[in-house]
Amino acid sequence: MPTRRKFLTILGGGTILAATGATGFVATRTPTKALAPWQPQTYNDPRKAALSYALLAPNPHNRQPWLIELIGDDTVIIHRDEERDLPQTDPHHRQLFIGLGAFVETMVLAAGAQGYKVDLSLLPEGDDGPIASAIFSGGGNADPLAGQILQRHSNKEPYSSQRLSDNQIAVLSDFATLYIDEQQVAPIRAMTRRAFDIETNTPHTLKESVDLMRIGKAEINANPDGIELSDPLLEVLRRLGMLTEEALMDTEHPGNKAHLREYHAMLEATPHYAVLTTQNNTRSDQLDSGRQLMRLYLKATEAGIGLHPVSQALQEYAEMKEEYALAHELLAPKGHTVQMLLRMGIGPEPVATPRWPLESRIIENT
Ligand SMILES: Cc1cc2nc3c(=O)[nH]c(=O)nc-3n(C[C@H](O)[C@H](O)[C@H](O)COP(=O)(O)O)c2cc1C
Repeated sequence: MPTRRKFLTILGGGTILAATGATGFVATRTPTKALAPWQPQTYNDPRKAALSYALLAPNPHNRQPWLIELIGDDTVIIHRDEERDLPQTDPHHRQLFIGLGAFVETMVLAAGAQGYKVDLSLLPEGDDGPIASAIFSGGGNADPLAGQILQRHSNKEPYSSQRLSDNQIAVLSDFATLYIDEQQVAPIRAMTRRAFDIETNTPHTLKESVDLMRIGKAEINANPDGIELSDPLLEVLRRLGMLTEEALMDTEHPGNKAHLREYHAMLEATPHYAVLTTQNNTRSDQLDSGRQLMRLYLKATEAGIGLHPVSQALQEYAEMKEEYALAHELLAPKGHTVQMLLRMGIGPEPVATPRWPLESRIIENT
């Protein structure tokens, strides 16, 4: 999945931007509407208040695969939106269930912060039914992690070579298995790079990413999900008809090659990794991993540590088979499943990604 800020350093792009009278243009290109959910509104209904935070949860390819039913005055049913699947890179929906688990955890934390308790039932009708039902009542307790929800972002930038302190390592060890020493980190880093190259050089998986790209302010505001590329230069190239699907699919294109070099450099700039595994791989395990992922992210945010999922080697399609096996050999002994692999380190400030507003995700209010 490309970085959002620096997708292509296209030849001649700087000249084009200069010719368009750049600076005024650049200043207007923030997709404000798509980022508005990061400033949640005030709601009288505590369920809507909690859900307006839940939709800020991390999720694969920013698909936001949740749909919400509000029943009576205390119940929420969360469904998976099956129109938001990722058939190529997540054919068994494992990653989507992790994203849904993160959504549920965020809702519970945000409810607690407002003094509400949530009586939660995951998969109340089995694996093929709703993801969760939740009954809100008074008397909840605030978890300090809730205070980090609005600050949490995936940090997809190069990290410095600064190692985490012993104290930081101790704090995060309660939330994930950490790979700290270079001897263990080096083979993981090499694997993430090979896996990224496989995803990029496999047309059906690359196409899934290209189809989800939103380039420039208008496209991002119209579809605040997927892979947003808000760089004004890319918007200009898109408007000039130079960033067609064909160009984006062409791995020999100089712009794409430049992007790949940048992405490799970012993957290289990784001093540590964090990993979540489960003994089995049921839907319930995947949801629990998502809940754990959210808590890990929030604790890392509190400690000023960057996290960035790098999931390519964990993806279940034929071309990735060898790297998937290696990931499990390196990271999940005894037949366990690696649910998440994340780069971890100290990086520049991360940026917020778009979200669909709450109202667009509510399917029933009865
Ligand atoms: C299960 C899962 C897998 C993910 N895999 C990747 C990945 O391989 N590469 C990547 O750049 N981001 C990955 N992400 C991060 C998402 O892209 C990110 O959560 C989403 O775009 C929203 O951005 P935010 O986390 O900054 O709010 C993953 C997230 C989840 C939950």
